[in-house]
Amino acid sequence: MPTGTLSGCMDERRLGSDAEEAAEEHAGDCWNGDTLSVTGCTRCPDLVDSRGQIVDGVGPSDADLLFVGEAPGATEDERGEPFVGRSGDVLDDALRAVGLDRTDVRITNCVRCRPPDNRDPATEELGHCRGYLEAELRALDPELVVTLGKVPAEHVLGRSVAVTSEAGSLEELDVGPERFRVLLSVHPAATLYDPGQREVFTETIARAAEYAGDGGQATFGDFG
Ligand code: URA
Repeated sequence: MPTGTLSGCMDERRLGSDAEEAAEEHAGDCWNGDTLSVTGCTRCPDLVDSRGQIVDGVGPSDADLLFVGEAPGATEDERGEPFVGRSGDVLDDALRAVGLDRTDVRITNCVRCRPPDNRDPATEELGHCRGYLEAELRALDPELVVTLGKVPAEHVLGRSVAVTSEAGSLEELDVGPERFRVLLSVHPAATLYDPGQREVFTETIARAAEYAGDGGQATFGDFG
């Protein structure tokens, strides 16, 4: 799709065309690069019907750590913030255990609108939201991206991921000219239905905190 011409936005806003705005232009006219937020996107008909509101990322726009989930659930849709339901409690606890508060990190999702009946986002829906995620990533330029669960890992890396066995692996992602480090994690909700995953989840969050706190210098030699 050509830059700057994405359709499906109720609030059309023309962007400049110089190089600094390239990432934003790619995201389309619904993206606001100042607030890292999306307004009036109508690209996914099912999601427009099912959402109560668009759920943008939260947290500092210069955070070292960016957590990427799948899509908002019912609580997130109601409150307009990612990971504020039961999964969010698990994430918050794991962050607190390593001395971080959720306000220290940025948290976002691959898809910003709640899918109907909590189904997985469709490939097309993930594609429609990809430009927003990439624009957020490039604006933030985090030390580390942490994918939470299988869907974000596969979407971000563009390959199949066996997330339980690959949790803790460090990967690389190129977005335009920039390269990002990506740490794979199981989804926090996995620890609720399979307590055996608690340890790998908390260990992954601890490594993420260590890595970010170290300005990306920590090694992952013993880590997947
Ligand atoms: N699960 C996700 O993947 N994202 C949320 O925001 C909440 C739960």
